[in-house]
Amino acid sequence: MKLTVVGGGSTYTPELIDGFARLRDTLPIEELVLTDPATDRLELVGGLARRIFARQAHDGRITTTTDLDAAVDGADAVLLQLRVGGQAARQQDETWPLECGCVGQETTGAGGLAKALRTVPVVLDIAERVRRANPGAWIIDFTNPVGIVTRALLQEGHRAVGLCNVAIGLQRKFAALLGVRPAEVHLDHVGLNHLTWETGVRLGGPEGADVLPKLLAEHGDALADDLRLPRVLLDRLGVVPSYYLRYFYAHDAVVREMRTKPSRAAEVAEMERQLLALYADPALDEKPELLSKRGGAYYSEAAVDLAAALLTGAGSPFQVVNTLNRGTLPFLPDDAVIEVQAAVGRDGAAPLPVPHVDPLYAGLMAQVTAYEDLALGAALHGGRDRVFRALLAHPLVGQFEYAEKLTDELIAHNREHLAWA
Ligand code: G6P
Ligand code: MN
Repeated sequence: MKLTVVGGGSTYTPELIDGFARLRDTLPIEELVLTDPATDRLELVGGLARRIFARQAHDGRITTTTDLDAAVDGADAVLLQLRVGGQAARQQDETWPLECGCVGQETTGAGGLAKALRTVPVVLDIAERVRRANPGAWIIDFTNPVGIVTRALLQEGHRAVGLCNVAIGLQRKFAALLGVRPAEVHLDHVGLNHLTWETGVRLGGPEGADVLPKLLAEHGDALADDLRLPRVLLDRLGVVPSYYLRYFYAHDAVVREMRTKPSRAAEVAEMERQLLALYADPALDEKPELLSKRGGAYYSEAAVDLAAALLTGAGSPFQVVNTLNRGTLPFLPDDAVIEVQAAVGRDGAAPLPVPHVDPLYAGLMAQVTAYEDLALGAALHGGRDRVFRALLAHPLVGQFEYAEKLTDELIAHNREHLAWA
């Protein structure tokens, strides 16, 4: 089995390698290719990746190349984890929206739109080259904003599934609180990528008993602390929102905080400097502790599980993924991409039925889906007016004055990445 990681020079890659090494029985990789245009990072990360495999006596071959076409040739699955413009572009996304009192975040709001506009054309070009090399290959997309990028891929008919670590993180957290194995916890997870709610926590599988009320009663304070939302909100909702809902439920407080603190991009850039220095040490042969300070915890496990299901039919039968709605949430268009539990196997992902969704969540999902539709149109066809319409539709922007100013800011800060600007 051959796997290719696009964006393989990412400082995150050792997390992925560690998962591949530990979970080799689930996913027997013979060849792993890391590809990235940044040669220096690619060699540093590739060296550590080989040492991690060697330490864990994994006999899979790891190669590195800057040649994308060679990298994807013959690959059974291609993982996309790239960041167009790097942390420097993210720093911008997290900064200029604050001028309008709007949240500055890399995947939601105006910053998320900027990231989508930079990213969609690049990902579609890569996907086209993957399809040319091997029409049967699966594309697993981690590249943010995952909802919009996956929608772009599926709209173009690619064999793609979008993935995020929010659900697997909550599954692990709930399992620890309940004192059970993670595999025993089945989440009733509903929404769009980075806009999800856990409406049930079942033991044993989709038909298991719902222990969410008990979890909230016994561990509500800890859960609320983690999300940095008031406990009373969780009690009143009776569900657990993902931490991305804080940008909505506590928007103004987040903006105040962001105005006084260094950006997450700046923090991450500093961590990346330290990580790359660690990776250069030939004695290091495991993922360093510092990597756990990044947001991507457990993403390797989610990736292994999904790749195993798609390629061999092994792996968990139900997984939270991003895929086409196709009537699952009747209040959204069929071609929207939703993030829900799905039956996954060699034929791809098929969402499990979702019971009636409270309008409190359905309304926000519908509005953000409309934004994602407009955002994808802007990413594909460009033009100031399309950017403006997407921003006006976004619930975290919404007002004419802000949409107008943010449109100009977005274009000014991203001109080098936007072919049409
Ligand atoms: C979580 C999200 C990812 C996001 C990451 C950011 O893992 O699910 O989509 O990329 O956080 O983490 P960072 O350490 O870069 O802030
Ligand atoms: Mn994510």
